[in-house]
Amino acid sequence: MSVHAPDLHVPDLEARITPGLEAVEDRLLEAVQGSRDLIDELTRHLAHAGGKRIRPVLTLVCAQLGDPDRALGEQVLTAATGVELTHLASLYHDDVMDSAPTRRGVPSAQHLWGNNRAILAGDVLFARASRMVADLGEETVRHHAHTFERLCVGQLNETFGPREGDDPVEFYLQVLADKTGSLVAAAGYLGAFHGGAGTEVADVVGEFGERIGVAFQIADDVIDICAEGTSGKTPGTDLREGVDTLPVLLLRRREARGTIDQAGRQILAKLGEDLSSDEALRDLVLALRSHDVMEETREMARSWSNRAVAVLDALPRGEARTALEAFADLMVDRLA
Ligand code: IPE
Ligand code: IPE
Ligand code: MG
Ligand code: MG
Repeated sequence: MSVHAPDLHVPDLEARITPGLEAVEDRLLEAVQGSRDLIDELTRHLAHAGGKRIRPVLTLVCAQLGDPDRALGEQVLTAATGVELTHLASLYHDDVMDSAPTRRGVPSAQHLWGNNRAILAGDVLFARASRMVADLGEETVRHHAHTFERLCVGQLNETFGPREGDDPVEFYLQVLADKTGSLVAAAGYLGAFHGGAGTEVADVVGEFGERIGVAFQIADDVIDICAEGTSGKTPGTDLREGVDTLPVLLLRRREARGTIDQAGRQILAKLGEDLSSDEALRDLVLALRSHDVMEETREMARSWSNRAVAVLDALPRGEARTALEAFADLMVDRLA
């Protein structure tokens, strides 16, 4: 399978990890099949539809911080594939939760097969990820299970919302750290750990992953509103489902502080109305797009990306660190 590393400003390192990415891709496509034909079609659906594979890239880059003989070794490849498979499983479930019509440019699994089958397909993929990770020893099994627990708790907290007295923006940032940061953190941690870099370095890149995960998910909130046909997802999906993502929370904060403008007030009013028609949703998406709260949201993504890069000060300068810095920029670049 031909895949290549993103531009990380270090061509030598990119060339070194590319065979690893290809091996992960082969293993991933192998892991999404193995039942009867009708089930394979369902479990293969999203892996074959595309995806950026940012988590395996991070795992392989972080493995470069350790022992060169282990950087593309069996354990690192297994960790990278296990993390991506876990991510894939979570997408099946997420699209059910969000009633998302499309994902990776194709109809979502639950749109084609219904909720029950999409949920069970996610479970099958998660079970396969767990079997894979079992080869990495008890410590990694525990780490993986804890990561998945955080991911699910984040998804649950998103549905329940903050408790009375919680700051809604702070609460939401914790949701992002849990539902997205946790798995990106695991991608980095397990790469460094199984690449032989030691737990201290693994903790550093784990924290880096957690923070870029938050930056990445904030960027995703901007994409939900601003992307026009490039993300493979349907614009306004979060708004229609009543999920208050960061731009909306920042508007509500302005309202609470008495600093909201007329356009912002109108957006909040529209959010309370019926958004089931495509026209109503489109109007709301367009109003948000032209509001300066989107720039405030982008600024927060940049700030989380900068906070991630600051953690890397603990690492020696070198190709891997440069690649991680470029990776952090990419998380925010996709806002463009
Ligand atoms: C989508 O993740 C879900 C989030 C946590 C934002 P990605 O944006 O990495 O999705 P793919 O794998 O490239 O489709
Ligand atoms: C996805 O969050 C998070 C997980 C899959 C754990 P979102 O619902 O915000 O992501 P997209 O926009 O559907 O990819
Ligand atoms: Mg979603
Ligand atoms: Mg969701």
